Amino acid sequence: MHDFRYSAGQLFCEGVSVESLVKKHGSPLYIYSQATLTNHYQRLDSSLAELNHLICYAMKSNSNLAVMRTLANLGSGFDVVSEGELRRVIAAGGDASKCVFAGVGKTEQEIRYALTQGIYAFNVESEPELQRIDKVAGKLKKKAPIAVRVNPNVDAHTHAKITTGTYENKFGIAFEEVEGVYARAAKLKNLHLRGIQMHIGSQLTQVDPFKTAVTKMLPLVEKLKTKHALEFFSIGGGLGIVYQGALESGAASWWKRAEAQEILTPSSYAQTLTPLLKGLGLRILIEPGRFISGNSGILVTRVEYVKRTGHKNFVIVDAAMNDLLRPAFYDSYHEIVPVLKKRDVTISTDVVGPICESSDYFCKDRPLPKLVEGDYIALLSAGAYGSAMGSTYNSRSLAAEVLVNGKKSALVRTRQSLESIWQYESFANWQQLR
Ligand code: LLP
Repeated sequence: MHDFRYSAGQLFCEGVSVESLVKKHGSPLYIYSQATLTNHYQRLDSSLAELNHLICYAMKSNSNLAVMRTLANLGSGFDVVSEGELRRVIAAGGDASKCVFAGVGKTEQEIRYALTQGIYAFNVESEPELQRIDKVAGKLKKKAPIAVRVNPNVDAHTHAKITTGTYENKFGIAFEEVEGVYARAAKLKNLHLRGIQMHIGSQLTQVDPFKTAVTKMLPLVEKLKTKHALEFFSIGGGLGIVYQGALESGAASWWKRAEAQEILTPSSYAQTLTPLLKGLGLRILIEPGRFISGNSGILVTRVEYVKRTGHKNFVIVDAAMNDLLRPAFYDSYHEIVPVLKKRDVTISTDVVGPICESSDYFCKDRPLPKLVEGDYIALLSAGAYGSAMGSTYNSRSLAAEVLVNGKKSALVRTRQSLESIWQYESFANWQQLR
C-alpha cells in the first residue's frame, strides 16, 4: 500500500492523518496518494526503459481530474473509452495525441470528436466499426489512425467478468481473421493503419498469460508490420495488484514481498516481455489502469451501528455498494483496517452498507478488531474501479475525494449535494400536484 501506513496507531496517507481528513471532509471519503500514483507510474515506466514505449493510463479505473493531472504531468498518455473520457483528458491538461480510443460501441459523434482532437489511434473492435471510422474520417477530410484489437484467445485466469481475451467475449477480432481484416482495411482510403492491439483481461497476477499472448501474436505482428508499415503494438493493460496484506510494511519491503510472492510486478513483467518485444522495432503501448490507481486510494467510512444477531456481528457503515461496488459485483476482497488502532480484540465481522440488498457488503465473517459506533475504518486498494464505478443508487450522493501530497491535502471532488441527484429530472405536464 506504499504510502498508507500507521504511525503511533493512527493511519496516515503520506504525511496526513486519515482521521483529520475524514473529520474535515466527512464520510464516506476517498483518499488518494499522489506519491503512490507517481511511484507506480514511474516504476512501470522505468522498467520498460529498454523499449520505445508509451503508457496509456486506462482512465476508466479512476478518472478524477486531479488523478489525471498527476499522470498527465508525468507524461502519461491515456486509454479512453468514450467522448466523456476524452473530454476529461483535455480538461485535465492531458495530450490527445497520446490517447488511444477503445471500446466496442463507438458512436459517429465520438469518432468525429476524437478525430478533431487528433488522437493517436482508435483501437478497433469490428469491421463495421472500421467502415464507420473510414466514413466519418472521409467527411472530415482526415485520415483516421487505427489499430485492430486482436482477440488472441488466451485465458487470462482471472475473474470471469473481467477476462476479455477469449472467444467467449465480445471484444476484438478473432486472431485467425486479423490478416484478412487488415487487407480489407488497407483498401479504405481514409484510414491510416498505425498499429495493432490486444488486451486479455484485468487483475492478472501472473506474467504467464501475457507471455503466452504476446508470443502468439508476434509472428502476426511482424507480418502486418512489414505489409502495412505499422508503427506500434499495444499489449493492453491488466497488470494485477496486491489486495491482501498490502499495508503491513513500508514501500520498499512491500515491493520485496511482492517479488518474493511472485506476484506480477513491473520488473517481472518487463523482464519477461522486453526480450520478446525488443527486436520488433515497434513502439510498444501499454494500457494499465488498476496497477497505477488501485493501491493509490482508500475509502474511509464511519461505523453507524453494530448489530449483533445470534449468528453474526454486523458492522453497518455509512459507505455502501453505490460507493464501492466491487465486493457486491465481483466478490472482490478489500482489506479493511481501523483508522485508529484502539482495540486488540478480534471478532468475526460482516461489514455491510445501509442499502436494502444482501449484496451490499464489504466483507463477510472476517476477523476484524472490535469496532464500535463512531469508529472510522478504511477499505484499502480502492483507488481503481472504486469511485469510478460509483452511482447514486438509493439517492445516495457520490462521495467526496481528497488528494494528498506529502503534508498537503486538497479536496478534489466535493461531496455531491442531494438535490443535484435529481436535478435533471422533471414532471410530465399532466402531473399537477394534488
Ligand atoms: N485496456 C482495455 C482494452 C480494457 O478493457 C481495460 C479494462 C484496460 C485496458 C485496463 O485494465 P486494468 O489495467 O485496469 O486491469 N471493473 C473491474 C475491472 C474492469 C476492467 C475493464 N477493462 C474491476 O473492478 O475489477
